[in-house]
Amino acid sequence: MTAKDVIILGIESSCDDTSAAILKNGEILSNIVAGQKVHEDYGGVVPELASRAHQQNIIPVVDAAIKKAGISKDQIDGIAFTRGPGLLGSLLVGVSFAKSFSLATHTPMIEVNHMQGHVLAHFIDGQYDTKPTFPFICLTVSGGHTQIVLVEDYFKMTVLGQTIDDAAGEAFDKAAKLLSLPYPGGPLVDKHAKDGDPKKFEFPIPNVPDYNYSFSGLKTSLLYFLKKNIETDPNFIQDNLEDICASYQHTIIKSLFKKLTKACRKHGITQVAIAGGVSANSLLRSELVRIGKNEGWTTFIPEFQYCTDNAGMIAIAGYYKYLNKDFVDQSIVPDARLKI
Ligand code: KG4
Ligand code: ZN
Repeated sequence: MTAKDVIILGIESSCDDTSAAILKNGEILSNIVAGQKVHEDYGGVVPELASRAHQQNIIPVVDAAIKKAGISKDQIDGIAFTRGPGLLGSLLVGVSFAKSFSLATHTPMIEVNHMQGHVLAHFIDGQYDTKPTFPFICLTVSGGHTQIVLVEDYFKMTVLGQTIDDAAGEAFDKAAKLLSLPYPGGPLVDKHAKDGDPKKFEFPIPNVPDYNYSFSGLKTSLLYFLKKNIETDPNFIQDNLEDICASYQHTIIKSLFKKLTKACRKHGITQVAIAGGVSANSLLRSELVRIGKNEGWTTFIPEFQYCTDNAGMIAIAGYYKYLNKDFVDQSIVPDARLKI
């Protein structure tokens, strides 16, 4: 007898992307993401506008995901949604949608922690010849989070260290703003850094205890550095953009690997994964391979579409919870500060 296929609808609405995915066992049938351009003019996500955009997007995005997957909604076995962490107004849209869908279709609901979703994205089929095996360490780096997570089982995760202020992605985006690059500036800092000298300018790496990070001081040091140089040379940014981006990026990546390496050595871990939007950074990726070789690590980088916020990662986490029959009822509420 073959086991019945399990089809999960995943919903992600924690920040500024509205996403829905259909997953059949471990395989993605569709993964639709609607971004929100409305925030570009403000240089950052405006929570109130994000909630409104989710409200407009959620039905068409779910509809598109179901159509693209070529299934009908009565074939869905479970609806997995992001309960937190994230922006409360944004989470409310996804959670309320999941409740309504569940009531209308008699489908069980599965709550997912967004940060666990980022880690479990590595288990979506079709990405690796062999997936990570437990225990492994995942560095989750996004616009909202920077965490070193020890993963001992699908839902047995321990945060070994995290940022005490800004996230790594935020450090990229804030630097981009100071350099007059549009939001989100992380990819542009990465692009300009390619032609620059990473050793040209020196920025301090903050000294934070244990496996924790701090990036707010780095942004402030860039601000003062730019102010000082613009006083004597008004064209300083334009004339040095590549070197500034390369040096600043180098500092963030060096800081990330310093703690990651320390954590892996201390815990005897040789399987190392990265997750979150900043995993798209070219220096982070190349350094993971280079340092990984020196340290004897096997490294894992998810496909780009599963690095940034997406419902595929929520659906895979939901799938493993579905197998455990780990369901929630209509009394569930979002939790903006949900911990791993
Ligand atoms: O995971 P994500 O899509 O959303 C959050 O949960 O925050 O991550 C978005 C973050 C933004 O800060 C963006 O600037 C950053 O990821 N990012 C990058 C790159 N691509 C995206 N940062 C540096 N280099 C990149 N290539
Ligand atoms: Zn995220």
